[in-house]
Amino acid sequence: VANSYPSAYGVKPGDDGNEVTESGFPAVIGHRGAAAHAPENTIAGLRLAAELGVGWVEFDVRLSADKRCILLHDDTLERTTDGHGPAAMKDWAALRRLDAGGWFGPKFKGERIPSLEETIEALAALGLGAVVELKPAPGQEAETGHRAAAVLAERWPGSLPPPLVSSFKPAALVAARERAPLIGRALLVGGIAADWRQRMQEVDAVMLHANQRLLDRAKAAAVGAAGVPLGAYTVNAAPRAAKLRQWGVATLFSDRPERLL
Ligand code: G3P
Ligand code: MG
Repeated sequence: VANSYPSAYGVKPGDDGNEVTESGFPAVIGHRGAAAHAPENTIAGLRLAAELGVGWVEFDVRLSADKRCILLHDDTLERTTDGHGPAAMKDWAALRRLDAGGWFGPKFKGERIPSLEETIEALAALGLGAVVELKPAPGQEAETGHRAAAVLAERWPGSLPPPLVSSFKPAALVAARERAPLIGRALLVGGIAADWRQRMQEVDAVMLHANQRLLDRAKAAAVGAAGVPLGAYTVNAAPRAAKLRQWGVATLFSDRPERLL
């Protein structure tokens, strides 16, 4: 499970604070765009992340009823849009009419749920790399992985570092591998269980992404000793970030990435 893409994922170390870690993965990734500053999983959020100086963002992808890849974290629409009910039961045309920004603040009113296709266009314009988290509705694991990987394989621009797909759902990662074997995969977990290496091997993951709250020095060291790059979500305070780095965590996902750069 060693990272076989070190140079491909390299973000060039520069004077903008975007260090590439020894693993080849970026040190800081904007979480859901830059979720503390702009509505999560929107184009406005990507734009703000770029303005804050991050080189990479993470966002969540799931399917509409008519099988379009869209950016949305929750199964249901209530928290982050003015819509109601499960997103998986609505067609893209209906989802597109919803407001995905007003809940966050009046200046974001009118922000829409983005498709994965237009998100890729925005990333290209902004020069942002991305971790594409597959967040399938229950029962749609394989289909979500397959369709998202197809869009990434067809549309990802050569000007950006290759994307990384991640998921808590191994079936989504296996489907992504079937459709686009060359796109790197990261396994998402809460805590790091005893069988973490085996679970990574089952999906040929190049990286492990774990919940920072459930992480400790020994677990991080065990992952490091196996030569596996470790990411931790969600880290919004600089002292915590410093500690995690000391433990060998390569990549931090943050709603407030400017604090960590
Ligand atoms: O990809 C890291 C992180 O986003 C996983 O948790 O719930 O924020 O999607 P969540
Ligand atoms: Mg996520």
